[in-house]
Formats: sequence, C-alpha cells, structure tokens
Amino acid sequence: MSAKIIDGKAFAAGVRGRVASHVARLKADHGITPGLAVVLVGEDPASEVYVRSKGKSTVEAGMNSYEHKLDADTSEATLLALIDALNKDPAVNGILVQLPLPKHLDADLVINAIDPAKDVDGFHISNVGLLGTGQKSMVPCTPLGCLMMLRDHHGSLSGLDAVVVGRSNIVGKPMAQLLLGDSCTVTIAHSRTKDLAEVCRRADILVAAVGRPEMIPGDWVKPGATVIDVGINRIERDGKTKLVGDVHYASCAEVAGAITPVPGGVGPMTIACLLANTLTAACRANG
Ligand code: GUN
Repeated sequence: MSAKIIDGKAFAAGVRGRVASHVARLKADHGITPGLAVVLVGEDPASEVYVRSKGKSTVEAGMNSYEHKLDADTSEATLLALIDALNKDPAVNGILVQLPLPKHLDADLVINAIDPAKDVDGFHISNVGLLGTGQKSMVPCTPLGCLMMLRDHHGSLSGLDAVVVGRSNIVGKPMAQLLLGDSCTVTIAHSRTKDLAEVCRRADILVAAVGRPEMIPGDWVKPGATVIDVGINRIERDGKTKLVGDVHYASCAEVAGAITPVPGGVGPMTIACLLANTLTAACRANG
C-alpha cells in the first residue's frame, strides 16, 4: 500500500484564506483589525525563525503583528510587566510567549500571567481546564491543526483507536483531549511505555509527537492507519541539513493509509490555527 499524503500546506492555505476573508469583513464592517503580540526572550535560532514566520503570516492575513524581542537575561519582573501591559492593550487580541524560555524564567508563571481570553496558544491553566472538561476554550494550535486534518480525512473519528506518542503539555496531552472529545479510544504512550511498538500497532490514528528523529518505523504502523507526524527535527545527512519527522517516512508511507509529510504537514497548520485563534479572540473581545 502507498499512503495518501495529507497536504498540510494546501490545507493551511485554505484556513489562512478563510481567516483573511473574515478579517477583511471585520475591518470593513466594524473597523476592527485583530492584533497578535509575539514575545521572544533570547536568541534561540529555531525560535527566531518561528517568530518571524508567525509575524509574516499574521500581516498576510490582514492582522496587526506586534513583536517584542527581549534579551536572554530579561528578568521575570520585566517580562511579567510586558505581559500585563499587553493584557490591558485593547489593540492586542492574542498574546504568544515563544517557548522554550531561558532557564531562569518560570514558564508556568509567565504563561499563567496571560489573560486567558488572549491566550492564543491555549496553554493557560484555565484553557487547559476548559478543554479537559469539554468547555469552550482556546485550543493549542498544533493539536487543533492535527484534528482538523484528521476530521477532513476521516469524517467522523468516533470509535477509532488513537495512540498519541508523546505527553507534552503543548502537543501530546491536548491532542489526547481533542481525540477523546471526538469519541476516539485514546492511549497516550511515551518513553516509558512497555512495548511501544505493540501499542502503536493498535492505532487507527497514530500521532507522533516525541521530538526524536525517525523514531517510529513502518513495522510499528497498522496497515491502513492514519499517521500524523508532529516532529520537526533537523538532522545532518550526506553532509546536508535535512528536516525529518518523528516517523520514518518512507517505511511508514508503505504501510499507512494516509500520512502527513515533514515538511509540509503539521507545521503549516500550526501557524494557520494560530491565526484562526487570534481571529476568534478578536471576535470574542468585540462581542
Ligand atoms: N514552541 C514550540 N511550539 C510552540 C507553540 O506552539 N507555542 C509557543 N508559544 N511556543 C512554542
């Protein structure tokens, strides 16, 4: 079998187009331009790339982008004061603090200082609780993007066996909540899971979010399963830097029914969902 390739880039372009049309209507009919503030502390090169890309996409969607770049040795008090100012600023509908933060800063404290209504990452403890109890919340962008592609491919997910490999707060845990919300039977697997291969082979939907390059080979995949690869890992191969996912693409694509590529799968959907969340926040803020 050769898997259908789920084209996240094309899917994301559709989402971004719909967000841009809605933003244009908001502007024309109500004079409202949604705004997203992105805060980057330090000079992590990967984070700088992500932040630049988020800013560019925000502007392309017709929204205002406010970038705040702070030195790596910024104090917690300074960062919290900035968040407080952004919370109070009516032009800012969404606030995103790029993670990871430098070690001297308490990420939980910082994230929980963001107004939950502006928490477009969905990381604030209030949004985590709302999602966990099936209430209206801001939903983390990467799992939301995965869910949208899964719904598009399967229609209903009800009753499917889903295995999420990875238990991070950013992807694994919220992904599991969303799949549960769509009536999947959900297993969260991780580095300590016994016989991980066997657990993965049970999955109709296999979501890989472990951050280990090409960790999941094709013989861990049930024939016909849908494989969602959240990993974005830079590796050196044949003297070149290459982006690979958490699954071994060639062997998994032989067995799976559908698979997301890296790049061009989950990655573009994360940014598209960030724009969608910012638009949602702006609509809620303006009644
Ligand atoms: N770092 C890696 N992924 C993310 C994300 O989705 N949001 C934030 N804020 N930081 C990240």
